Amino acid sequence: MIPVLDARLAAVLKLIRAATHADIGSDHAHLPIRLVQTGRVERCVVVELNPGPLGHARTNVALTGLSDRLEVRQGNGLSPLRPGEVESASMTGMGANTIQSILEAGGERLPPALVVQPNDSPRILREWAARSGFHLVAEALAAGFWSYPVLRFEARSGADPVYDGVPLDAALRYGPHLLRSGDPLIRRQVLDDLTRLTPLAAPGRAAQDELNTAKTALEFLEK
Ligand SMILES: C[S@@+](CC[C@H](N)C(=O)[O-])C[C@H]1O[C@@H](n2cnc3c(N)ncnc32)[C@H](O)[C@@H]1O
Repeated sequence: MIPVLDARLAAVLKLIRAATHADIGSDHAHLPIRLVQTGRVERCVVVELNPGPLGHARTNVALTGLSDRLEVRQGNGLSPLRPGEVESASMTGMGANTIQSILEAGGERLPPALVVQPNDSPRILREWAARSGFHLVAEALAAGFWSYPVLRFEARSGADPVYDGVPLDAALRYGPHLLRSGDPLIRRQVLDDLTRLTPLAAPGRAAQDELNTAKTALEFLEK
């Protein structure tokens, strides 16, 4: 069995390379299967909380004949892992709040590299990383039903230099790497925000702050 990854999971795959990896909330296990099949990962732990998706993961892993390198475990977040067991972990296709809860509960099980793909704004994950000893080392946007953000964090000491020279609020909202690269999808997102927020904005409203952030991001993109 060779699963076909959509653009979202293909973008995630490109940001992972490790001897040992864990995919948390894996459902069908397509990502870990392709990670092992393409040689990007030698061994992967597939973690699922819920019985239905856990069954999908077990069936698909069995169909690949790679059960010696893909181990499926039931459990919540990073808790099925032993401290230091994996070099990196991915959490994809979930809300940013769910991913943040998993990271915050991770403690000594948090690996030194993380790849996250939330289905909504990644801002709180950039903020979590900045206060938790992780630097944002890569970002991508994958086209799909909407633009899916993919972020890679690595454990590093000190303030994250990626935010130097970029307006902080715009960088937390849209992504410092994406703004610097002028990615066409981030430009589209900023322009869409300007269109959506302009009629909603008024002094004292949250929409006004969001509109100001979008304007700052556009100015940076057009510099
Ligand atoms: C929408 S699916 C995404 C599946 C796959 N990661 C992807 O990106 O296509 C989210 C999966 O995460 C699982 N999940 C949610 N919270 C979890 C948690 N705390 N620990 C482990 N799995 C979780 C759900 O059961 C579900 O199968």
